[in-house]
Amino acid sequence: MTGDEARFTLTRIGHAADASQQMIADVCAGLTAEHKSLPSIYFYDDHGSALFEEITRLPEYYLARAEAQILEMYANDIIAAVHPDELVEIGAGYARKTQLLLAAIHEREAGNVYVAIDVSESALRHAGENLTEMYPWLEVRGYVGDFGSDLASVQREGRRLVAFLGSTIGNLPLDQRPSFFDSVASMLEGDDGFLLGIDLMKDESILIAAYSDSAGVSSAFNKNVLTVLNRELDGDFDLDAFDHVTQLNATTGCMEQSLRANRHVSARLETIDLKITMEAGESIHTEWSCKFTREQITEELANAGLSVTDWWSDAENRYALVLARRASFAPA
Ligand code: AVJ
Repeated sequence: MTGDEARFTLTRIGHAADASQQMIADVCAGLTAEHKSLPSIYFYDDHGSALFEEITRLPEYYLARAEAQILEMYANDIIAAVHPDELVEIGAGYARKTQLLLAAIHEREAGNVYVAIDVSESALRHAGENLTEMYPWLEVRGYVGDFGSDLASVQREGRRLVAFLGSTIGNLPLDQRPSFFDSVASMLEGDDGFLLGIDLMKDESILIAAYSDSAGVSSAFNKNVLTVLNRELDGDFDLDAFDHVTQLNATTGCMEQSLRANRHVSARLETIDLKITMEAGESIHTEWSCKFTREQITEELANAGLSVTDWWSDAENRYALVLARRASFAPA
């Protein structure tokens, strides 16, 4: 026995307690709207998370590898730039990439606290157990909550590095991005840092391939949201009645995923007594995955009072890690 439990705590913030009520509200709103949609968070049950892991190993899906490459090369520089007492990760998941940052933190004798925020309690437990075992010097504080949670209520330990990796920012609906950046800014004091992983705008054919791989894993991942609804809300969606569609929206700069009915669909969600009918060709929007330019992200962060102070990208300039600070503290 190593006393690892004492170095791992778990707290709930925000609406995490009534997750199923949230799902009911989201599904009702999304499937009764004129343009149907479902929030992309519902992809990620155990099977969906496993399919996403599989996506990260596909030759076409460069995002995860590009980010790992940047962290492998620059984790030390990132930690040297901020010298944090604590690393706070939003959307931590299993916290695999985080290990590169934690190792650099230890090497540079920065802090010993890792705060992980995620919607998945099981992922947080897994990360907490793993990391406290790997790093005997580390304290892990898990917070169960989503992006809309009260991030300001997360206990503070000293100088912070807030990380939001994996290009997850791209999945936030466009109209939620400003308030999300505002709430990140409210977590920062003094010369704290915000490290953001973004996928960079690039040739459309590369993006299309990344989201509609030839092995069909992306399609299975997209359709999994219907499996989740069938299970959670006692539904009878026929997955074969839908095609996986992915396209670049040139106006917003986002890849968009949807499920398009390939015939008339009549389905029912028993639990919420909702009947859904769709004509052939009608779609359910399931995901935004927005791409950025340096100018654009610099401007959006500036609107939240944050200045970009450092920028790291992979050798092929496909992906970037952006470091920002409160504008009032950033060196001119
Ligand atoms: C969750 C941001 C890493 O948007 O690229 C992968 C999810 N969706 N294939 C992304 C995803 C379709 C992914 N991230």
